[in-house]
Amino acid sequence: MNKATNITWQTTKIDKKQRQAYFGHKSAVLWFTGLSGSGKSTLAVEVERQLFEHHVNSYVLDGDNVRFGLNQNLGFSAEDRTENIRRIGEVAKLFVDAGTIVLTAFISPYREDRRRVRELLDDGEFVEIFVNTPIEVCEKRDVKQLYAKARRGEIKGFTGIDAPYEAPQKPELTIDTSTQTLEESVKQIIDYLSSHHYVP
Ligand code: PPS
Repeated sequence: MNKATNITWQTTKIDKKQRQAYFGHKSAVLWFTGLSGSGKSTLAVEVERQLFEHHVNSYVLDGDNVRFGLNQNLGFSAEDRTENIRRIGEVAKLFVDAGTIVLTAFISPYREDRRRVRELLDDGEFVEIFVNTPIEVCEKRDVKQLYAKARRGEIKGFTGIDAPYEAPQKPELTIDTSTQTLEESVKQIIDYLSSHHYVP
């Protein structure tokens, strides 16, 4: 809901279609969702690198990074996670308007929050990528030692331990980093983008 009153939408002289035509590719959100340690960020940064090499205007928004700045006032309660995803959805929409392929790497555990982001965007602009790495594998990796802390009760409300993760029901893509190599997973994503004419 808007707190501000007396505001009107300012239109611009260049629109999304013109920007896409200039860059030579469509713009969209590649929305990576999955547990902590599932491989969202690793995948997103490698896809971004490969897109960049092919002169595709792309940009990663990463959970931890965004929480250092834009969302530094948010924690991990259900409410704060919803607000986190709402803001990221709005930022992602701006990137899409700017003609960019934006890759977002957030746990985004609630189906409804992800659905709302999809609704914000035009058809085909939201590509949900479910990083379906089993929790046992994520926990074994435990790169940041957060699962260990959660098991010891030092972190409360940790996704997959004592906070929910609602898996996507109809994601555009599903990836399991415990059975696929990084190269295979990245290829799967890039192939999807070219076969669906996002990129040449
Ligand atoms: S969310 O649920 O989408 O709002 O989370 P996100 O913004 O992606 O942030 C997840 C990263 O925060 C760290 N972290 C936690 N994750 C889950 N639950 C709790 N309680 C928690 N506390 C800190 C963790 O490093 C997550 O990073 P990733 O990259 O997913 O491992």
